[in-house]
Amino acid sequence: MPGIPLQWNVVVTKDQAAMAQMAVDVFMEAARNRIEKSGYFSVAVSGGSTPRPMHRLLAGDPYGRARVWEKTHLFWVDERCVPGDDPASNYGMARSDFVEAVPLPEIQVHPMRGTVVPDRGATDYEKTLGSFFGAKQDEFPRFDLICLGIGTDGHTASLFPGHPALDESFRWVVAVKGGQPDMWRMTLTLPVLNAARKLMVLVSGVKKRDVVKHVFQDDPPGLPARRIHPSAGTVTWMLDRDAAMGLSPEDMGTGVEEP
Ligand code: 6PG
Repeated sequence: MPGIPLQWNVVVTKDQAAMAQMAVDVFMEAARNRIEKSGYFSVAVSGGSTPRPMHRLLAGDPYGRARVWEKTHLFWVDERCVPGDDPASNYGMARSDFVEAVPLPEIQVHPMRGTVVPDRGATDYEKTLGSFFGAKQDEFPRFDLICLGIGTDGHTASLFPGHPALDESFRWVVAVKGGQPDMWRMTLTLPVLNAARKLMVLVSGVKKRDVVKHVFQDDPPGLPARRIHPSAGTVTWMLDRDAAMGLSPEDMGTGVEEP
């Protein structure tokens, strides 16, 4: 496919700290908008190291005491099948980075359950999503905001290159084995990611430079991160300069902003 998908915007920031600040601004603005329009804000966050500076900013002043938390529902994009207090748990990491520091009612925190059989954890999470969003089985839940990262192999969420879970067109959440560390995980599926109103993909550092180029140039074709193109939503790619270094202005399309 020549060029990037129409739904993509690209922002290049000078470093990871600037990227975290911009991500928090997008988060807070989406929260305020959606609460004004619909009375609540639904957001799903990822694991990995890249979102941690953003999460820590969310915990601090002034964001940590923002009114939006009272109306926010927090979900996870993916989870490793471990207990919540395991260092590999995405829930555990977010909890200590920001969840326990903000006035988010416990009942509005919706972790994936990493301690049951992976398939069961995935089915349980589908039920959680079904009762929150009220979506039927032939529809997909529509998050207000989904925050993603990418791996050096082009994976996003826990959707790994070549894995059959990538072609899931019916399920909302599936169990997969893979990644680094290679373990059982649960992940939202591509149709759920692509049903979101807004997505942001945070990518930082020299080690992501090559994969960013592969994804933006679609070579090799169809890497998981390339397949994020929501049917009625937008994707903001936030790249720091180190991660964006291999891209030409043409690769980034017209939506490039450098704050
Ligand atoms: C996870 C993720 C995963 C992550 C990428 C990037 O649980 O690991 O949700 O998709 O976003 O692997 O990870 P880093 O930010 O650590 O590079």
